[in-house]
Amino acid sequence: MKTITITRPDDMHLHVRNGALLKTVLPYTAKQFARAIIMPNLKQPVVSVEQALVYREEIIAALPASWAFTPLMTLYLTASTSIDEIKNAAESEYVHAFKLYPAGATTHSDSGVADIKAIYPLFAAMEKYGIPLLIHGEVTDAECDIFDRERVFIDTYLIDIVKEFPNLRVVLEHVTTAEAVQFVESVDVNVAATITPQHLLYNRNALLVGGIRPHNYCLPVLKREQHRQALVKAATSGNPKFFLGTDSAPHLTELKENACGCAGCFSAPIAMELYAQAFESANALDKLEGFASFFGADFYSLPRNTGTITLEKIDWEIPANYQENAISITPFKALEVLNWKIA
Ligand code: NCD
Ligand code: ZN
Repeated sequence: MKTITITRPDDMHLHVRNGALLKTVLPYTAKQFARAIIMPNLKQPVVSVEQALVYREEIIAALPASWAFTPLMTLYLTASTSIDEIKNAAESEYVHAFKLYPAGATTHSDSGVADIKAIYPLFAAMEKYGIPLLIHGEVTDAECDIFDRERVFIDTYLIDIVKEFPNLRVVLEHVTTAEAVQFVESVDVNVAATITPQHLLYNRNALLVGGIRPHNYCLPVLKREQHRQALVKAATSGNPKFFLGTDSAPHLTELKENACGCAGCFSAPIAMELYAQAFESANALDKLEGFASFFGADFYSLPRNTGTITLEKIDWEIPANYQENAISITPFKALEVLNWKIA
């Protein structure tokens, strides 16, 4: 049987939620990844170091006994974040970044930032104290077409942020366009990007052809095929500016299969398998380890992991759903056949 063994990977963009949902989804990530950058967009956003430490304890308590997994916490940036909190966060060994959500851009982003220019003093403090800024890069203007929102965000905000704060470490999260790839490639080493499995595998036809597919809906929304190809090229290029971030974002099945379905693909149980499939299709399995296990750790100045994982080339069917007590979550690509499996 064909197998590949790589250093244990990290997921540098992950939603694990809290409460019962956390308990249901966390083991799937902990099985695949050594560490994950935990997104702070809970219903009650994680805005202080103190809250992040409480959330971190909840995550650790939700892990099956003796499983080794390290949550890397982030704070939700708001217009009222203080310079002191930025300093605290930078000094905390458990907090690794701030996340900027433009207000209204995605799930639980109501407390996000409405006026990005107004928080430049906060970017200056992050630059000074050396803590990374993670960005959901989409404008929210009602008149901006949803397929243009990432590109317009780059032109309207990101070019200026990177110019004003050249030493600020920035991750443009879940890039979806050729323009985003080109932007990240063209600027300084301080600017990197995460790429999700769904944006490597699918273009926007996967949302609409043959019927509407709520489980393929996430934000930023899937784009045209030319953009998917640019993302595959970036991910498989060996350029350390591009690294793995699943953006696995579980929602209950009933909230996805809904007249107003939630944005987010639950990919955690099959994440490495999906990336292996995408890299194999590009004849680039030899580039998977850098993307999945090295470049993210290097960007965050974390030691590289020591253990390994092995993927086997074998066909298996993704379950229809993951169920526990009252919770049912439909995974990305439910009931489809995958051709890789974690050993
Ligand atoms: C994420 C979620 O549900 O929290 N949804 C998504 O579609 N990616 C939020 C986000 O990262 O935009
Ligand atoms: Zn996300």
